[in-house]
Amino acid sequence: MPELKDMLIPVEGNIRDALTIIDANAQGTGFVVNEDAQVLGLLTDGDIRRAFINHGKDLKTPIAEVMQSQFTSLPMTATPEQINGLLSDRIRHIPLLDEAGKVVDFASRTRTRRIPIMEPLLGGNELAYVSECVRTNWISSQGRFVRDFERMMGEFHGMPHALAVSNGTVALHLALDALGVGEGDEVIVPDLTFAASINSIIYAGATPVIVDVDDTWSISTEAIRAAITPHTKAIMPVHLYGYPCDMIDIQAIAKEFNLLVIEDNAEGLGTTLNGQLTATFGDAATFSFFGNKTVTTGEGGMIFFKDKKHYEHAAVLRDHGMSKTKKYWHNYVGYNYRMTNLQAAIGVAQMERIDDILHKKCTIGKVYNDLLADVEELILPPNSSEVRNTYWLYTLLVNDKKTNLSRDEIIKKLLQNGIEARPVFFPLHVMPPYVNFAKGEYPNTDYISRQGLSLPSSVGLTEVQQEDVCRALKGVFKVRELMKG
Ligand SMILES: Cc1ncc(COP(=O)(O)O)c(C=O)c1O
Repeated sequence: MPELKDMLIPVEGNIRDALTIIDANAQGTGFVVNEDAQVLGLLTDGDIRRAFINHGKDLKTPIAEVMQSQFTSLPMTATPEQINGLLSDRIRHIPLLDEAGKVVDFASRTRTRRIPIMEPLLGGNELAYVSECVRTNWISSQGRFVRDFERMMGEFHGMPHALAVSNGTVALHLALDALGVGEGDEVIVPDLTFAASINSIIYAGATPVIVDVDDTWSISTEAIRAAITPHTKAIMPVHLYGYPCDMIDIQAIAKEFNLLVIEDNAEGLGTTLNGQLTATFGDAATFSFFGNKTVTTGEGGMIFFKDKKHYEHAAVLRDHGMSKTKKYWHNYVGYNYRMTNLQAAIGVAQMERIDDILHKKCTIGKVYNDLLADVEELILPPNSSEVRNTYWLYTLLVNDKKTNLSRDEIIKKLLQNGIEARPVFFPLHVMPPYVNFAKGEYPNTDYISRQGLSLPSSVGLTEVQQEDVCRALKGVFKVRELMKG
């Protein structure tokens, strides 16, 4: 966040000096002050643009000729209600003055609160159900909510064999293990994903084979075909940021080469391809319910199996490998990958509102798409009429052909506006534990990873907040444009 000093423009400078300050503070504005820190005027990027276009001014014009000398200020003793009552689309920054008229602070819409990249919305029965667990002592993995959560997720997807687990990472590991993927097997995984996808393959003792993504940012089916060897046992498509992989082609490949498909649907809950929900295509599919996911349980995960026998085997492995009929008898080296009733209680409350949650996520994506459609410095997320993108994180690319601002500079400037943005994952093939699993080139992942950034996407995000985010984002480019003169 900018401090007061970052907002102050000494009156004796010229427009070029002012723009340098406005560019650095990323607020699109600054307070013009004299030597005694008294505010003489306000200067915005809009004022400068109008001065260039309408009045023939240039970068050398003195600030005093261009600034607005009529501006809104408040005494430093103003209450938050007074300040909020004045802040609007038009008045976005208010200098706060002491008795001598010196600026001692300032207020803006984003100075008092930060817009997080993602936060859960726990506004339904979450608290009531967690309280029920505590009141009734059902806080371990026994209890009704675990079964209810599995049933609700299963029913929503039309997938009866659903198994709740502790998180999305162990969901992947357990899915691979239960399907018999292990040593000597190769599993094809996209370069652009969260590391848990590849880690789970390594836990299973199998060998990951990293392939590039295509222009939808999803695993390239061409690259999958090229990577198949006699050892290939499975493909792990990842529905990244809420956009589906080409499951039609992937299923055709799997059928042709007799391969298993494990969908990593951690980021894809509610996403559809040709009207079919992701996580319903593969032999197994996994979810994450981490705090930043579309449906959350704090930490948590789930696996769907197509085949009941894999589901039953996974249920045994999840519970220490213990026989379901002979207590404390272990037929397998199993795991404790169970979800607690406390976590599932939150999940049940979230699933009660699943339609609203998904509707909101899709709306967030649409609003961003509309607000940012005309920004040539940005490349909007992939889109297709066959797809419902649920925008787990609304993620776009900075167009390096249209701006010299780097993605990381933009993230920094958004943060100065109280807006959290996030870079896209690093390519797997460049990170030390995975370099040996790389084959060939990964130009698409390299580009998306370098240029991609995610914007705030919480279910509770308001349209006004989205407007603030987009205004700040556009403002960053506008000031750069003016600096060219
Ligand atoms: C694509 C992907 N796979 C797997 C995971 C792992 O899930 P968890 O954090 O619940 O272990 C995540 C998220 O965190 C993810 O984004």
